[in-house]
Amino acid sequence: NGNNLVDAEGVKVRTVKLLASQNVGFESLPVQFVNKATKAGFVFNVLVIGETGIGKSTLINSLFNYDFKLPPGDYQHDSVTLDKHAFQLEEGSVRLHLTIIETKGYGDQLNMTDSCQGIVEYIDKQYEAYFQEESQVVRRLSDYKDTRIHVCLFLLAPTGSNVRALDLECMKLLSNKVNIIPVIARGDSLTKKELDSFKRRIMAEIHQHKISIYSFPEDDGQVADLNRKMNADVPFAVVGSSEVHEVAGHKARARVYPWGIVDIENEAHCDFTRFREALLRVNMDHLMQTTNLRHYEVYRDRRMTELGYGENEPQNFMETITRLRQTNEQKYRQKEEETRTSFVNKVREKEAELKERERELHSQFEHRKAEFSDHVLEINTQQSALQKEVEIFHRVKSELVNSQAGTIKGSKKN
Ligand code: GTP
Ligand code: MG
Repeated sequence: NGNNLVDAEGVKVRTVKLLASQNVGFESLPVQFVNKATKAGFVFNVLVIGETGIGKSTLINSLFNYDFKLPPGDYQHDSVTLDKHAFQLEEGSVRLHLTIIETKGYGDQLNMTDSCQGIVEYIDKQYEAYFQEESQVVRRLSDYKDTRIHVCLFLLAPTGSNVRALDLECMKLLSNKVNIIPVIARGDSLTKKELDSFKRRIMAEIHQHKISIYSFPEDDGQVADLNRKMNADVPFAVVGSSEVHEVAGHKARARVYPWGIVDIENEAHCDFTRFREALLRVNMDHLMQTTNLRHYEVYRDRRMTELGYGENEPQNFMETITRLRQTNEQKYRQKEEETRTSFVNKVREKEAELKERERELHSQFEHRKAEFSDHVLEINTQQSALQKEVEIFHRVKSELVNSQAGTIKGSKKN
């Protein structure tokens, strides 16, 4: 009964229904949420693992029905690298930030373990980036561009016999780190009977090696039945094609062979359509959630333990995160204090340096001044000496003139 509602502190909550005729506006709240989410768009990061030329790019193109023009590999890799391409897709009013990461050189090396190690490191690096962001003092998670891998499509070669040791080893390493969906590539190269037994074989080996792969959730009422069927189809046998042909009166992505046509969207031909539906139409959201709530959580727990938030401590996540943030805050303050001190010290040093320089200049100035006044004194002395000489000269001159005049007078007298 709505009238008996109480809040957390026991205060009675009254139910009020506003008059429909006097709309105040907050009924648009869900629309506001949706608009906000839609405007920002969704992030989906796909990792495609498979040997060179197995059909990774073609599968991605077929899935999104778009030619992404992903560059092909060249069999010249010394080690496995990851080739990352980002796109912004729009379907209706929904924007999807899609990142496709393809392996280059996977399976081409003689040293098998190295093949997978780089992939594992890449996945962990993305978790670490998110972890750092989450424990920042000033968090910007709302504009954070999530790079964590949401799904790993693992393309298995259609050998029809055992799963290759490399694939098993690699899946084992990725197990519990990422949502693995194993896929049989080039499904058109096996007969129906071969496919069925190959699928059973793959699942048996996955179980035997205790590899944990992604399973579509069967606990959500709406899609439980559908997902149950999807899980029974794993590993999907897919066929990809970059060509569009006219098949039975409609245009379809298809592979044309001398003996007939494989329409990849025809459910009788392969599992492609069911695979696309399971991946993109029904469970994309669950893949994102699982990445965040399961795989990332495992990574975070590991990091927390490494940082000293051990298992004996209360496993309350908010508490731990708050403490981690406090530690970071402390570090941040300390850093700030250090920066300030070092700045003040620098200023002091500079000040002392300037003072020293001033003193130096001053003493130079005094020295020059003294030199100068010595100089002036000398000039003065020289000047007065010169003046004396001039006076003597004048005196001698006038005496000479006078004596000459006397001589002349005398000589006239004589
Ligand atoms: P790299 O990026 O170079 O490692 O190759 P990739 O794995 O992306 O393979 P890509 O999609 O470029 O396909 C390589 C070749 O395989 C092309 O000629 C495709 O037409 C062909 N191919 C792709 N998918 C299938 C398929 O399902 N069946 C068959 N029979 N051939 C396929
Ligand atoms: Mg490719």
